[in-house]
Amino acid sequence: MNGEPTDVLVIGSGAAGLTAALALAQRKRVLVLAKGGLSEGATAWAQGGIAAVLEAGDTFENHVRDTMVAGAGLNDREVVEHVIAQAPASIDRLCELGVPFNRESGDLHLTREGGHSHRRIVHVNDATGWAVQEALLKAAEAHPNITLLPGQSCIDFITGHHQERFSGSGRVWGAYALDEATGKVAAHVARATVLATGGAGRVYLFSTAPRGATGDGIAMAWRAGARVSNMEMMQFHPTCLYNTQVKNFLITEAVRGEGGRLINPATGQRYMAQYDPERMELAPRDVVARANDDQIKRHGLDYVHLDISHQPPEFVRAHFPTIHEKLLGLGIDMTKEPIPVVPAQHYTCGGVCIDLAAKTDLPGLWAAGECTESGLHGANRLASNSLLECFVFGEAAARDILAGWDSLDAPPAVRPWDESRVTDSDEEVVIKQNWTEIRRFMWNYVGIVRTTKRLQRAAHRIETLGREIEDYYGSFRVTTDLIELRNLHQAADLIVQSALKRHESRGLHFTLDYPQTDPVARDTVLVP
Ligand code: FAD
Ligand code: SIN
Repeated sequence: MNGEPTDVLVIGSGAAGLTAALALAQRKRVLVLAKGGLSEGATAWAQGGIAAVLEAGDTFENHVRDTMVAGAGLNDREVVEHVIAQAPASIDRLCELGVPFNRESGDLHLTREGGHSHRRIVHVNDATGWAVQEALLKAAEAHPNITLLPGQSCIDFITGHHQERFSGSGRVWGAYALDEATGKVAAHVARATVLATGGAGRVYLFSTAPRGATGDGIAMAWRAGARVSNMEMMQFHPTCLYNTQVKNFLITEAVRGEGGRLINPATGQRYMAQYDPERMELAPRDVVARANDDQIKRHGLDYVHLDISHQPPEFVRAHFPTIHEKLLGLGIDMTKEPIPVVPAQHYTCGGVCIDLAAKTDLPGLWAAGECTESGLHGANRLASNSLLECFVFGEAAARDILAGWDSLDAPPAVRPWDESRVTDSDEEVVIKQNWTEIRRFMWNYVGIVRTTKRLQRAAHRIETLGREIEDYYGSFRVTTDLIELRNLHQAADLIVQSALKRHESRGLHFTLDYPQTDPVARDTVLVP
């Protein structure tokens, strides 16, 4: 079955996808596909906010420097400067869309997060992402040129191989997607495609990312022939709630920005001075996450404490209403007691290589947001720079597509999805087993502190599982679980391959076998 051809297909309905769709819809018909519900990506979960230079004492140069320091010099300076210069305009557009950012005497209230030398995070209390997602979605729903189709799991791009007559080209003409309700696969054909599928955080056992963050877009692009880079740069957030009932609830970095302290529950001591005496709790995330991990491992703890109870209760409630209420429901009153926290995977810094116009290597395919490697984040993303990246590159993709529209060929006839050689699976347990196994060995072998031996162990497991998963994929009808498992496995492989290639420690990639940082920063680029 083939869907009605559209001008532009956007895959993903988070900040990157909806930004691109809204900009494209001024002149073209846009179809937006999303796995699950329209607000199930990471965007709706963002807490802290969006970084932008808006204070008189701050400068673009400060923000550029903070971004490059956090990114351990692996960032592309031209990209960093470009994105940071666009930030105030992105915030203006969000204000026009009605995002109710916090204000103080009429001006935007700016909070602070780790790695930032100035207050520059605009926010909506501690639930910024939800407000942004709501505003973008409302605008997209109201737009006559945008069709939103939730419940569609994209499987692979339509390329030259899928044309009725094989063209031999890697040109992308849309994507095949499984309709989660009917179980049918449709070919969604388009002249241009924008990939905005978010990160691959769920490749790890503990992650703050939503369930659907299984690296689908990165894996699809890789299979279609696009380069992928810096996948070893997986960001671990230092403060995910430790709780037996709630596994992946983030405690925003803004808690530390507003004075929160990290304390060892066994000794009662504040410990960040041992790791970063100058910046303390506001050191970049890789430093704080490694410090928390070290305290936990060295003292045999289950968690460390994050304490903001020295601040007045009304201050804590006013700044962190969502977190305060969530914790109260779990029996923790953060105005009176410390919060138990652990590091957890949080953000995928690497991804599909794109240029400043959001173009990938594949003709017809643009990409934006967490599924990409644009050069902005380098070896470690600075807090609150990623929503910003979604807005800037979502717009850039739309601009580039519209500017080059007349040179884009009309789509060819495309073969429908072939199900003639598969049957319904009778062993769903295989999917669950493999999924759990990948997440567990990635956590244990490819986590915050790495060694070559552990990475090789992971590579070996990935190879064995790969044969099993491809065999399963070739024999049975696709389900969302199977699509995700195949992509999760591909993402794990890309992370481990990249980690094995980097013979130094830099930013988020820390290995005991190569503790030094090389004088020259180089991207790890994998070529299919
Ligand atoms: P997402 O918002 O994740 O959207 C991905 C979309 O792709 C979804 O619609 C999903 O359904 C769809 N999709 C995925 N796979 C498929 C498929 N196979 N087929 C069809 N559709 C698919 N960043 C900040 O800058 N500031 C913050 O304060 C902040 N806080 C955060 C807090 C948490 C808990 C987390 C997890 C992240 C946070 N981040 C923050 C990071 C930021 O939220 C994300 O990087 C950003 O929202 C990613 O947006 P995106 O549009 O690229 O992807
Ligand atoms: C947070 O609020 O701590 C998350 C911010 C981010 O990931 O940028």
